[in-house]
Amino acid sequence: MSIVLSLWRIINPLALLVTRNESARQFLSLKLDEQKKLLSDLANFRTDAPSKGNYQKWSFYFETIRQHFQLPCTAETRQNRAQLLEELCGRDGKILLLGDDDLVSWELAKRDFSDVCAADFDQKLLDHIRDLCADLTRQPRLIQGDFSDPAFDPGVAPDVVSLDPPYNLRWTHIFISKALEAVESREKAILLLMINPYCFSPKDLENIMERLASHGFRLKERRERFNGYPLQGLSQVLLRAGLRLLDKVPTLEPGQQFCFSSDLYIFHKG
Ligand SMILES: C[S@@+](CC[C@H](N)C(=O)[O-])C[C@H]1O[C@@H](n2cnc3c(N)ncnc32)[C@H](O)[C@@H]1O
Repeated sequence: MSIVLSLWRIINPLALLVTRNESARQFLSLKLDEQKKLLSDLANFRTDAPSKGNYQKWSFYFETIRQHFQLPCTAETRQNRAQLLEELCGRDGKILLLGDDDLVSWELAKRDFSDVCAADFDQKLLDHIRDLCADLTRQPRLIQGDFSDPAFDPGVAPDVVSLDPPYNLRWTHIFISKALEAVESREKAILLLMINPYCFSPKDLENIMERLASHGFRLKERRERFNGYPLQGLSQVLLRAGLRLLDKVPTLEPGQQFCFSSDLYIFHKG
């Protein structure tokens, strides 16, 4: 084992003791092999330029600590999600977005989708989406609420529910609970889950899949690296440092940068 990896074995448990961010703790609590798998996966994703015009409230604390785990995706990812939703349920489909710092509701409003609801904790984000959509014919329904509050009900029984949960196990399950509640009364529904599977231990990932299966959801398709999230500032430096641990940092073309990425899992019920 290289000196760097031996050092990391000593630093990792100490970092776990002092780190409070739940997504960072998730990474630190993985085994070394699992951490390497996640980094190898991320090494395969790079983007030409950070998306402009994204929701940027998360840029603070040197761009590592994000309020409400916000990390907006690239404009291309947002457009691909809108395209997918059109293929899955058409523009009249009933769509519930659980969390929307990616501004998918705006993308759908631009494409004339008629029944879109975005629920989010962040009122400022919802106000921002309202402003973006102000001149459009179709307005998404925007509902403020906390998914960890069992009493919060977005009041929609959607055809498709889409969730991009935080990169840690506890919050992933909280988001999944809200999604399952929303489609409980539906005999048929589609659930779109955006996660990077390597953020979880194999056992925890299996539990997520089993939980969805126990609610009648069958995995129809997985699209690897469907979602890209540009990392800036210190986050980009930390990812590069992590890749260096692997001892095989991929080369970037001029102007390119590494990106966080997640897969799309499409589940069908009924
Ligand atoms: C969870 S974030 C995206 C996560 C991203 N994949 C990551 O971990 O960096 C997606 C949206 O969920 C919202 N959100 C976060 N926690 C929430 C909560 N407890 N209740 C409702 N919305 C929440 C955020 O404001 C954001 O717009």
